[in-house]
Amino acid sequence: MSDNIQTVTVLSKTTWTPNLFSFTVTRPDSFKFTAGQFVRLGVNPSQLSYYKQQTGEDASAADDSLDEDIFRAYSIVSSPFDEVLEFFSIVIPDGAFTSQLQHLEVGDELLLNTMPFGFLTLARYQKPEPKDLWLLATGTGLAPFLSMLEDLKTWEDYDHIVLAYSARSVAELAYIDKIKSLQEEFGSLVDDPAKFIFIPIVTREPLEGALTERLPKLLLEETLQQRAGIPLDVDSAHVMLCGNPDMVEDTKEALKTLGLVMNRRGEGNIAVENYW
Ligand SMILES: Cc1cc2nc3c(=O)[nH]c(=O)nc-3n(C[C@H](O)[C@H](O)[C@H](O)COP(=O)(O)OP(=O)(O)OC[C@H]3O[C@@H](n4cnc5c(N)ncnc54)[C@H](O)[C@@H]3O)c2cc1C
Ligand SMILES: NC(=O)c1ccc[n+]([C@@H]2O[C@H](COP(=O)([O-])OP(=O)(O)OC[C@H]3O[C@@H](n4cnc5c(N)ncnc54)[C@H](OP(=O)(O)O)[C@@H]3O)[C@@H](O)[C@H]2O)c1
Repeated sequence: MSDNIQTVTVLSKTTWTPNLFSFTVTRPDSFKFTAGQFVRLGVNPSQLSYYKQQTGEDASAADDSLDEDIFRAYSIVSSPFDEVLEFFSIVIPDGAFTSQLQHLEVGDELLLNTMPFGFLTLARYQKPEPKDLWLLATGTGLAPFLSMLEDLKTWEDYDHIVLAYSARSVAELAYIDKIKSLQEEFGSLVDDPAKFIFIPIVTREPLEGALTERLPKLLLEETLQQRAGIPLDVDSAHVMLCGNPDMVEDTKEALKTLGLVMNRRGEGNIAVENYW
């Protein structure tokens, strides 16, 4: 096993829908990361309690193919200050990784590559200066933004923080209570609690208070800016996109139409992360 790979233990699991769940694992003492980064998580199906219960202690004896380490990239939901690590996962029924990961139980072990990756971090912005932060996510792409919102510095650095989070259905809009509690907790610690503006988007069924169109359309028609109550400006906006690559591409184009530019070498508005 590589020096960077450590074993972590599952501490809790929350099931949001049949296709979405979250879990926490132990955090190795030496593991450091920046809010917004991702790690590579590994599962060896033969080590999951689910298979051990079905096949006896040595699941790999019954099925060789279960005894392999499968790794995938996962954004960290929890803050760099937390004692545990939290992740938010899709279940793709025929996906090599998540069709196994969905069987996780408390006490199971996973592999963690302790080399954090990724540049979807607020430190990448040098110009414009922090003023308005726009965090635009689809599905599990919410994960890195929750980590950023759990850092008081984010709340102190920006005048406005807009979180727009798009899911197909109401049930798939996970972490709503967490978002409310972040607003209460951190809002009470900064000069203007109203600086945080949460905009839920549910695209395939109605939800009172939520927008219903896709992000690029909401931006081009200025519905998102109106709901946020602030303009989206090349001189003040840091815009981060995370999740579905089609959303990232279409939203990037919409933002460019509005005059915003990609962030390169510290300068510019738009930073992105594609999940597949
Ligand atoms: C930088 C980065 C960070 C990531 N962070 C997360 C994360 O925090 N949570 C998470 O669930 N996934 C995340 N992913 C995706 C993750 O790495 C896997 O693709 C996912 O776990 C599915 O693995 P799989 O083997 O089951 O299916 P795969 O064979 O990897 O994917 C099969 C198909 O499933 C769809 N798909 C994959 N991931 C998602 C997703 N997250 N939401 C909706 N559809 C998807 C795509 O259509 C993809 O082609 C991230 C990917 C990258 C590159
Ligand atoms: N019932 C099911 O079988 C079921 C349900 C959910 C998920 N899944 C599985 O999960 C995967 C998808 O997961 P998901 O729902 O988290 O991801 P998703 O398809 O990316 O949808 C999440 C949100 O992103 C929006 N979106 C998609 N493309 C966009 C674009 N180009 N521009 C702007 N917004 C865009 C969706 O809007 P739209 O609604 O307009 O697309 C939705 O609001 C699928 O591969 C599927 O296997 C299955």
